[in-house]
Amino acid sequence: MAQQKIAVLVSGGGTNLGALIMAEQAGKLKSGKLSLVLSSSPTAYALERAKIAGIKHAVVSRKEPDFEAQILALLEENKIDIIVLAGFMYVLSADFVGRFPKRIINIHPSLIPSFCGDGFYGLRVHDAVLKAGVKVTGATVHFVNEITDGGEIIDQKAVRVCGKDTPETLQKRVMVQAEQVLLPRAVEKVCAMQLKSQSKQA
Ligand code: GRF
Repeated sequence: MAQQKIAVLVSGGGTNLGALIMAEQAGKLKSGKLSLVLSSSPTAYALERAKIAGIKHAVVSRKEPDFEAQILALLEENKIDIIVLAGFMYVLSADFVGRFPKRIINIHPSLIPSFCGDGFYGLRVHDAVLKAGVKVTGATVHFVNEITDGGEIIDQKAVRVCGKDTPETLQKRVMVQAEQVLLPRAVEKVCAMQLKSQSKQA
């Protein structure tokens, strides 16, 4: 069966990568194959997850001046079709993003268009949610375009904010209840869509 080749770009713990690996192992990622993990940090635990799962992985250091060119070369070399940004702490340039229309997916830990855009990453998102006093937050999977967190929304899932929440407890709940549920589902959907449009073109 034809499958899209997926690259996952990471920078940290890789819990979202872990969710994708579990989905693949459970046969829920039928239209895609996790083929490459690229980390912007050499100490990211996500690299360990890739190693244990037997997925090809590499470090591309953010400190390198040709960081994006190195990523591009690895994507081409490995014939990657779909790119998933899963906790990747770097905003890709408009030039890079423009090369992959509707082929780069990002997971953001809030309900876009709230608490997103430049400066909203990691615990800062959840801190802002708590300060605003909203009672519902969540996660969003979206296509990546040249606007930070501004691409077309693929799917969203809401999560309840609790009175006793700290940014850390809220982050954990959003990751477990929303991000890790949404991302594998969205990746399968996009891979299936791509396969369908390719078969129509053939
Ligand atoms: C997650 O909240 C993700 O949405 C954000 O970074 C956090 C860590 O993700 N972009 P992971 O554990 O490295 O997948």
